[in-house]
Amino acid sequence: MEFQRHRGFSITIKLTTWLLLIATVSITPSHAVPRRGPYDEKPRYRNPITEIKYASPSCRAHVSSLTEFGGVGDGTTLNTDAFRSAVEHLSQYSSTGGGMLYVPAGKWLTGPFNLTSCFTLFLDKDATILATQDVNQWPLIDPLPSYGRGRDKPGGRYSSLIGGANITDVVITGDNGTIDGQGASWWQKFHKNQLKYTRGYLIELLYSDRILISNLTLVNSPAWNIHPVYSSNIVVSSKTILAPVHSPNTDGINPDSCSQVRIEDCYVVSGDDCVAIKSGWDQYGISYGMPSQHIVIRRLTCISPPVLSLRLEVRCLVASKTSVPKT
Ligand SMILES: *[C@@H]1O[C@H](CO)[C@@H](O)[C@H](O)[C@H]1NC(C)=O
Ligand SMILES: *[C@@H]1O[C@H](CO)[C@@H](O)[C@H](O)[C@H]1NC(C)=O
Ligand SMILES: *[C@@H]1O[C@H](CO)[C@@H](O)[C@H](O)[C@H]1NC(C)=O
Ligand SMILES: *[C@@H]1O[C@H](CO)[C@@H](O)[C@H](O)[C@H]1NC(C)=O
Repeated sequence: MEFQRHRGFSITIKLTTWLLLIATVSITPSHAVPRRGPYDEKPRYRNPITEIKYASPSCRAHVSSLTEFGGVGDGTTLNTDAFRSAVEHLSQYSSTGGGMLYVPAGKWLTGPFNLTSCFTLFLDKDATILATQDVNQWPLIDPLPSYGRGRDKPGGRYSSLIGGANITDVVITGDNGTIDGQGASWWQKFHKNQLKYTRGYLIELLYSDRILISNLTLVNSPAWNIHPVYSSNIVVSSKTILAPVHSPNTDGINPDSCSQVRIEDCYVVSGDDCVAIKSGWDQYGISYGMPSQHIVIRRLTCISPPVLSLRLEVRCLVASKTSVPKT
């Protein structure tokens, strides 16, 4: 393990992993708690393990199957409209017990779609959501404010396969069903510098609260796998994340400007970081000033190439929201 300090307030912890790495890490820096004034009581120790609440598993009073919306699980029919109409339909129940979209056994090809509040996406054990390789099916969206630009290319970026913004009580789970990003064609285009915009991720939720992502297998994401941003009360558990160890930027789980996060019991084989805790990107992240804090990572098995496996970009962890250091 190597500690590296750069730009004064960024610490990267490198875990070099040629072999199986079993990491049990709790990140609870005492100074992650915002500093208090001299007249306040002494800071109360917050235990993130007990304080991070599970997303309500009860958001599934109304259940629909994807087939009710015209979905065809043959691996070749595009189901983007079926997913979008199903979510739209179930969003009407967000204040009356919530809606659950059941994805039955089959291979469900789709372009990106967004989730809604008080919602469960549930995959059968033999269900695979297949991301379309047709670039034109991936809508372009703005860069994140704490990134200022796309990571691969300047300007906008492709949507993530499963997205959502400003939502609460979201569950993405199943009997270990599969979400397959079919990333090979994206990796190839990336290596040949043929992409005009930044690749999409498998799951990205913005400005959201109470998120549970569990019991699924994610394979071959075009880029990162799970990316919660500007969100809180997040549990990621019992995930298997697989991508070739030479695939570009296939990070496992990247909480970014998030608080109250618990990542546990996951098995990650990927081409880049297993878990990377982020707070935006360089100067954009600093000026956005939203730290990642109160994060627990435990019982993870990570296999990566001999690069970074666990990356903690803690520059903003050590600063409270109101005192992020300026360059
Ligand atoms: C999904 O949500 C993102 C973030 O708000 C938005 O930019 C995008 O247009 C939405 N996509 C769809 C298909 O509605
Ligand atoms: C979500 O909330 C953020 C912050 O309040 C706001 O800037 C953004 O426009 C909202 N996005 C959507 C899609 O509602
Ligand atoms: C996870 O999926 C497995 C495999 O189908 C199933 O046996 C198990 O009950 C699921 N666990 C949870 C917590 O849902
Ligand atoms: C889920 O599926 C993956 C891939 O088939 C497997 O390696 C893993 O053990 C399964 N997890 C559970 C909890 O059944």
